[in-house]
Amino acid sequence: MPTSQTNAAQNAGTPRWLQTRSEEQGAADARSLFQQVYGYEPAGVWSAPGRVNLIGEHVDYADGISLPFALSQRTYVAAAKNDDGVYRVASRFGDPVEIVHFEIPVAEVGPGNPANWAGYAVGAIWAATEAGLMPAGGLNLAIESDVPVGAGLSSSAALECSAALAAFDLYGGATLDDAVRNGLMGASIRAENEVVGASTGGLDQRISLFGQAGHALAIDFAEDSATQVPFDIAGRGLAILIMNTNAPHQLNDGQYAARRAVIDGVTADLGVSSLRFAEEAEDASVGWAKANDVDPVEVAARVRHVVSEIARTAEAIKQVSAGDMEAFGRSMQGSHASLRDDYEVTVPELDTAVDVAMAQGALGARMTGGGFGGSAIALLREDQVEATATAVAEAFAEKGFNEPEFVVALPSDGAHRNA
Ligand code: GLA
Repeated sequence: MPTSQTNAAQNAGTPRWLQTRSEEQGAADARSLFQQVYGYEPAGVWSAPGRVNLIGEHVDYADGISLPFALSQRTYVAAAKNDDGVYRVASRFGDPVEIVHFEIPVAEVGPGNPANWAGYAVGAIWAATEAGLMPAGGLNLAIESDVPVGAGLSSSAALECSAALAAFDLYGGATLDDAVRNGLMGASIRAENEVVGASTGGLDQRISLFGQAGHALAIDFAEDSATQVPFDIAGRGLAILIMNTNAPHQLNDGQYAARRAVIDGVTADLGVSSLRFAEEAEDASVGWAKANDVDPVEVAARVRHVVSEIARTAEAIKQVSAGDMEAFGRSMQGSHASLRDDYEVTVPELDTAVDVAMAQGALGARMTGGGFGGSAIALLREDQVEATATAVAEAFAEKGFNEPEFVVALPSDGAHRNA
């Protein structure tokens, strides 16, 4: 898997572009890795995409609304059953690239085990068997990925969903319909929450399984519903530029969980299912803050982000549906400001990427994903892409940040079988 780790010394200020394989090539590479590692042909290859979230950030775990789309950067899993009662996982890591092997008995996978990268894959398979989607059994897996790790583009969900789908096809055998996709989504979320131990909210797994080319997905987490929204920005001469800051990025370092704990605490204290249904949630949060000995001003700001972001996202979905991209760009700006000032999940690299893109004439720009590093996105005219990437790369070089990496995001299909 690409790790994209570079340092400031290598950052000359010229934009570096993320290389992405065609699905055909990605599947062929996973197949040949399987061959190389296990010495025979896999039964098939399955893949699932990473994502960007256009808006609706840090609200999935608050029963809010989000608007992500699936990327053309995918994780490919070549797989076959084995009779040995073990999961074997092989992938290529690092620079220079080496093949990393991991093996665990099927019966040993469960909460907290394995708590490493392979836990995303085998944890999702374990949770799918626990959910009764298929019987448990050994598997050999070989993984190739174009979703950069640590870029805030959901490499973990892409791994969970592709592995769970491969196992389902091999052991479950039923047709992949929406009910199965829902089951695999729940299993992938459970893997992340219970096996790997990251308290994430489910946005990434849903879009990785339900994405459709040319569309964004309007998800309402309170209603547990999702609607495809046409997102043909290329037809309007526009593009979404991903700016991967390559800033150090860790979702499970406690910051994400800390934000979520505040929102969960206030929500429970107010006796509502979501802050979007609370009267005067910001004022009402003071009681919880005092009872828990935390700064009421800070708690009010966290609540303000969640409430305002949900309202902003509802508006943004209307703006996108109506084709009003200028208004949508302003919503993106509002979202970034709220994440920066009220939710405090941005870092200087994200703010710089957003500010430079706006100064270059973008319609809107914002961080995407969990924050604390990762990527920002800019909505801009296609003919501004090169100049914007160059300006951001130069600004990063000047500030001594890590070298950023760029790619134009293409709304793509969710998880499926490739070969
Ligand atoms: C991460 C999590 C998601 C979501 C986003 C923020 O990507 O995995 O569940 O909370 O952050 O919107």
